[in-house]
Amino acid sequence: MIQEQAKELKGDGGDADLADVAKSYSTLRTKGTGKRKKPDPSKEKDRVLTAVKVAMLGDESLIEEHLAKEVVSISLEEQARLEEEARKNWDIFYKERTVNFFKDRHWLRRELPELMPPAVRADPSQHCQPHVPGTFKYTLDDALVHLEVGCGVGNTIFPCMRANPRLFCYATDFSPRAVEFVKGNAEYDTARCKAFVCDIANEDLRANVPEGSVDFITMLFVLSAIHPDKFREVCRNLYRTLKPGGVVFFRDYGRYDLAQLRFPQGHKLADNFYVRGDQTRSYYFSEAEMTAMFEAEGFVVDENRFVKKTVVNHKRGLTMQRIWIQVRTHIAPVLPWMPSGWLLRHSLSLSLLFCRSVV
Ligand SMILES: C[S@@+](CC[C@H](N)C(=O)[O-])C[C@H]1O[C@@H](n2cnc3c(N)ncnc32)[C@H](O)[C@@H]1O
Repeated sequence: MIQEQAKELKGDGGDADLADVAKSYSTLRTKGTGKRKKPDPSKEKDRVLTAVKVAMLGDESLIEEHLAKEVVSISLEEQARLEEEARKNWDIFYKERTVNFFKDRHWLRRELPELMPPAVRADPSQHCQPHVPGTFKYTLDDALVHLEVGCGVGNTIFPCMRANPRLFCYATDFSPRAVEFVKGNAEYDTARCKAFVCDIANEDLRANVPEGSVDFITMLFVLSAIHPDKFREVCRNLYRTLKPGGVVFFRDYGRYDLAQLRFPQGHKLADNFYVRGDQTRSYYFSEAEMTAMFEAEGFVVDENRFVKKTVVNHKRGLTMQRIWIQVRTHIAPVLPWMPSGWLLRHSLSLSLLFCRSVV
């Protein structure tokens, strides 16, 4: 049943988190996992059904009660190992699933009108021709510059490039295998794309993307894979690449998503942070922490909302709810009396410093 439900949701959601959790019942890797045991399938079935029920009731205190039953049983050593091996685990993920796991993000045409030409904005469902390498007519100065962070195998950049012939795309992921898949795509064109390996939590994007050169950043289901201690550093990393007025579009797993509620015992790393059976990790975000994080790093938050999708399994008579969080932020445009984004970002602390030294 679990596998069946997961298959259905995979098609709907565009991400395969539930499929992954389901797979973890049978493929939980035991290497280095110490005391984590394979869950008892009958108990897990109960847990899944309870999770579905609790999620549908939508009562926050019930949900919290359900989540509180889950204790952190993973040692600090094991947690440190997961952090150290994060890149390797994602690389294995792509070795096993190749390009067939995530779906093309065609829905971005609807959600990102800023990135789309007028015709696609007017009719997001229209057919768009694949890109033919060698036919890009723009230079970096007159192109719209898009940076896709945690690009996986390119499920965002290629649909966006088809939809807007003016896009130049930087695409980065820390899995070398994923980046190789991007470069191997028939639509990959060195004149309009640059794919490179980068760990956005620990390496400066400016090694590959000039500072202040990007119009638009997309980051889909990526921050959740990173340790929460690194979230702010990731934001700083993005900030430095943006042009004044540049935009970040973010979509990821939302707090109380069914995938969070149905994690089996022994997968919790911290509040709202879990490890899947394949050793990749997943965090579930609230609206309040998203706003706090982006604002603390100098972004202006324009949109911050949960996107909810009800999925019905008619065969099983189950109604399930997926919850994603969608955030759109921008950095302030340069004002004539403030020559750089940096100055604008630090203006508050600079003025406080000034006031203190005067008093
Ligand atoms: C759930 S997948 C999403 C892939 C893609 N964004 C999509 O929506 O199809 C998460 C991606 O984030 C990448 N990732 C995780 N941590 C990263 C990091 N620190 N730096 C760069 N990429 C990272 C993984 O390799 C993986 O490709």
